[in-house]
Amino acid sequence: MDITWKAGLEDVIAARSAITAIDGEAGRLYYRGYEIGDLAGTRSFEEVVYLLWFGEPPDGAQAEAFAAGLAAARGLPAPVDAMLRALPRDCHPLDALRTAVSFAAGLDADRRSSDREANLRKACRLMTLVPAVVAAWQRIRTGREPVPAGPAGSHAAHFLLLLEGREPSPEVARVLDVILTLHADHEFNASTFAARVAVATMADLHSAVVSAIATLKGSRHGGANEDVLAMLREIGDPARAEAFVEARLGARERLTKRERADPRARVPGFGHRVYRVDDARARVLRGMARSMAAATGRGRLFAVAEGVYDAMRARTGLPVNVDFFSAVVYDALGIPPDFCTSIFAVGRVAGWCAHALEQYADNRLIRPRAEYVGPPPRALAGAVAP
Ligand SMILES: CC(C)(COP(=O)(O)OP(=O)(O)OC[C@H]1O[C@@H](n2cnc3c(N)ncnc32)[C@H](O)[C@@H]1OP(=O)(O)O)[C@@H](O)C(=O)NCCC(=O)NCCS
Repeated sequence: MDITWKAGLEDVIAARSAITAIDGEAGRLYYRGYEIGDLAGTRSFEEVVYLLWFGEPPDGAQAEAFAAGLAAARGLPAPVDAMLRALPRDCHPLDALRTAVSFAAGLDADRRSSDREANLRKACRLMTLVPAVVAAWQRIRTGREPVPAGPAGSHAAHFLLLLEGREPSPEVARVLDVILTLHADHEFNASTFAARVAVATMADLHSAVVSAIATLKGSRHGGANEDVLAMLREIGDPARAEAFVEARLGARERLTKRERADPRARVPGFGHRVYRVDDARARVLRGMARSMAAATGRGRLFAVAEGVYDAMRARTGLPVNVDFFSAVVYDALGIPPDFCTSIFAVGRVAGWCAHALEQYADNRLIRPRAEYVGPPPRALAGAVAP
């Protein structure tokens, strides 16, 4: 059998998909053929979700009906609320989210069905459950009561209402709407792939989303967001940015390959498996980070980020990725570092569901092979031949 091994499945085509295309050489990203920069800010996040799930942008009536369907699915189930209150306050937000989605699976009205209509209803509930849990946990862990769901406001504005307890300004709601669109899907990223592997076994949609959240957490994926904000705060002063990068990259020269793989030996927010240049999302986010930082008086952190960006450009060919400048935007929105990856999940659940629906529609078990490199078959001392 001819088996070609690629570490990390690099460049391996694992399935066919009609949802998202990436041009890594040009730094371009397309949802259903539409470039991300054209969608972000000109179409609402809800319309983008519709596009990802159904393949075409909604017309006016479809957009209205879809947004109304999502709004109708709002609300945190009481047992999930109670479960969150039982968690230790220092539980990581993504762990709380993973546990809550798993718990909600058993409460779902369609828990016994996985047909397309049931999965669409579940997907709508997951779209609203994820932001509801993320916001509720942020309030519970900081000693505040969760905010009850309301029927008004866009998906982004409603999430901010649940988080802050007051209606956001239209400008802030728009910023979050764009962020959610930028994070909504990204082809076969690790968490989406995990979701598709779960679906391919014919596991239910909640199980797929639990797998995805678990996979999003790591520092090579969504967790990098948190590391970026922590790093920028540690640097603190734009004048120290260059020396920080110099020291971190310089220290790598003395490390073994295994040691260099440690997240603390890398500069978070840089490097990508697919992109060779800065990607479109990072470019949009850089502009947003600049204007948000100026509007909120947090220009210093943006200046630190620019310093790191320039130093990395001067010393490496690594592209900046989506996690770098989004961390600066989150800081301007007042979001703490360990909460950043949860915002990522609020957007990405749209893509997880889109890919799950696509996988269910044309499924084959995903079951690759491993190249065996262990000992050859050998005799076990004392074993009696049958
Ligand atoms: C995203 C990422 C996991 C891609 O990994 P990958 O395709 O497997 O690439 P590799 O880990 O094999 O890296 C290739 C080389 O570039 C180096 N490199 C990649 N990203 C780097 C970074 N952020 N800082 C410093 N060096 C980096 C690697 O160390 C490696 O060289 P080495 O073997 O001498 O150590 C990787 O770039 C990374 O860890 N980035 C930081 C975390 C991050 O921002 N994640 C969010 C991704 S959207």
